Amino acid sequence: MRIYEVKDYQEMSRKAANIMFAQMIQKPDSVLGLATGSTPVGIYRQLVEWYQKGDLDFSKIRSVNLDEYKGLSADNDQSYAYFMRKNLFDHVNINPENTNIPNGLEEDAQKECGRYNSVIQELGGIDLQLLGIGNNGHIGFNEPGEVFEAETHCVALTENTIQANARFFEKIEDVPRFAYSMGIKNIMQARSILLVASGESKAEALEKTIYGPISPAVPASILQLHNQVFIVADEAALSLVKERHGL
Ligand code: F6R
Repeated sequence: MRIYEVKDYQEMSRKAANIMFAQMIQKPDSVLGLATGSTPVGIYRQLVEWYQKGDLDFSKIRSVNLDEYKGLSADNDQSYAYFMRKNLFDHVNINPENTNIPNGLEEDAQKECGRYNSVIQELGGIDLQLLGIGNNGHIGFNEPGEVFEAETHCVALTENTIQANARFFEKIEDVPRFAYSMGIKNIMQARSILLVASGESKAEALEKTIYGPISPAVPASILQLHNQVFIVADEAALSLVKERHGL
């Protein structure tokens, strides 16, 4: 794991965007694994800025998102499909046909999960997977549990995640209870992984991710076994790592 400590959210966004930039320059038809949530917003803003300056080209880029709420349409302003259009896709020259997100409206979970696994496979796997981290150590919607789920699956969100995500909804009852998410194997098969974290609320999860035992109780801890992981995190997110282990 290569850990980059940065000062704050802004620096995290810039550093992480740099790593994505390098990937896109090296391989203009890269398959980017993308994430939603508040952490990547600044990264996407930076990428859009570089695109507008003419420094980046998305015309050949393919993308696969980590997850989507089950039951929300792509037009619902809380869906991850909507988030991606608003924060990135609508502002760059990516071909919408080259973007992939689980279909939240597909009721048949087995069918949708199978379809999504095939999509990833047909793209030839993921070149660079961007990940945020939940304050309980989840990646994608792979919640803490007894086992690592390998492939795309339908997840019952934990109370912790429902509460953490309630800030985006009018009321907590509106937060969907299920989601489709890539599995740990889908993520681990990415050729490189970029995990970003900002703020003190991520400090415990990050410390366990980097130094804890590898366990499905902290899904992100599996990343210790991947040979190309970049972690870009700010001082607050790395505070416990530094306090307990130095950096
Ligand atoms: C989003 C995702 C989640 C988030 C995580 C952190 O696609 O898969 O795992 O990355 O919940 O969310 P934020 O960035 O909002 O703290």
